[in-house]
Amino acid sequence: MGSAQIASGIRWVGVNDRETDLFEGMWPLPRGVSYNAYLVMGKKTALVDAVKTPFVDELLSHVAQWADPRELDFLIANHLEPDHAGGLAAVHRVAPRAELLVAPRGRSILKELHGIEQRVREVQNGEMLDLGGKKLSFHHIPFVHWPETMATYESSERVLFSGDAFGGFGVPDGAFGDDQVEVAEYEDEILRYFSNIVGMHARPVLKAIDALSELDVDQIAPAHGLIWRRSPQRIIDMYARWARMEGEPAVTVVYGSMYGSTRMAVEAAAKGVAEEGVPVRVVDASRTHVSYVIREVWKRRGVLIACPTYDSGVFPPVDHALALLERKRLRNRVAGVLGSYGWQGGAVSKLTQRVQGLNWELVGTYGFPGHPTEQDMQEASRLGAEVARAVVAGQL
Ligand code: FEO
Repeated sequence: MGSAQIASGIRWVGVNDRETDLFEGMWPLPRGVSYNAYLVMGKKTALVDAVKTPFVDELLSHVAQWADPRELDFLIANHLEPDHAGGLAAVHRVAPRAELLVAPRGRSILKELHGIEQRVREVQNGEMLDLGGKKLSFHHIPFVHWPETMATYESSERVLFSGDAFGGFGVPDGAFGDDQVEVAEYEDEILRYFSNIVGMHARPVLKAIDALSELDVDQIAPAHGLIWRRSPQRIIDMYARWARMEGEPAVTVVYGSMYGSTRMAVEAAAKGVAEEGVPVRVVDASRTHVSYVIREVWKRRGVLIACPTYDSGVFPPVDHALALLERKRLRNRVAGVLGSYGWQGGAVSKLTQRVQGLNWELVGTYGFPGHPTEQDMQEASRLGAEVARAVVAGQL
């Protein structure tokens, strides 16, 4: 959509990427991702963040609509992951007098990952930079998403350039602001970004929200996705809720099934949840990319994990989903475990250990051999109802 003015003297000059299939080489991007870069123009001009390497020419063409890229005074790198910073070295070469500003922990990453050593200056937490008519300050928010991450605040227009914080997957179609779109249509992709990319850094996210709350903000301009100018508080509240891992009063059933036994029991368990008046979502881990499984479990407080025994253990697609949930350190869930087996069990006891390892509250377990009998179906339904009641009890 070319570049766009978001406030007096502040322009979005980023790129909408609808071509990359996998973010970080593993997370699907069915609705794309934007790399938001911003030009801040006082007497001096600063470029805040950049774009992924293949899109650097497009970034420079957007900059050129407002300023000669060769005359940029400052490059500000809030974060050095190559999705933003891949194009930084090229911009640094194009702008021979520009000084590149990073948090102190960014210096070695700049050198090792981007080969940049010259014209680099470390900025301290709270340090100010007067561009003449535009005033910037720098706020370290480590581990949202890497150790060097910071946010940059422009005080005359009260715009917070927040880096990965408050970002999301999904290109804002034909728009850039939350005032121009139906935000609800973007929330699932924002949560998938949060839960998969920054979710394991939930504590740093809460610390960052606390630290940045001192600033008087009219617009939150993150590195990905919508710019929040109608309601910056909306994305702050969403991030805070997800980082606290509260979960909606509902249940996610994550299952795998080889020949239908577990699937049949899952249907009974889901019905048991629904009969308690609690919303339920069933996710087939074999047919759903794990990034969506993580998102769905992050969304709801109740979890029911179900699978057959495979190689004496947990069915691999469910095993993989649990491994990533462990890595993301999702807490504060109430869970049930359901499993089937052929000649000997294994999945239920191992799933139980995994749930305990996650520090989730284990409500109950049930395992059965072969195809489920009528009694097995009743037990699965009872287990679903127990998880549902525990979810509701947790809200009281
Ligand atoms: Fe958008 Fe952690 O990079």
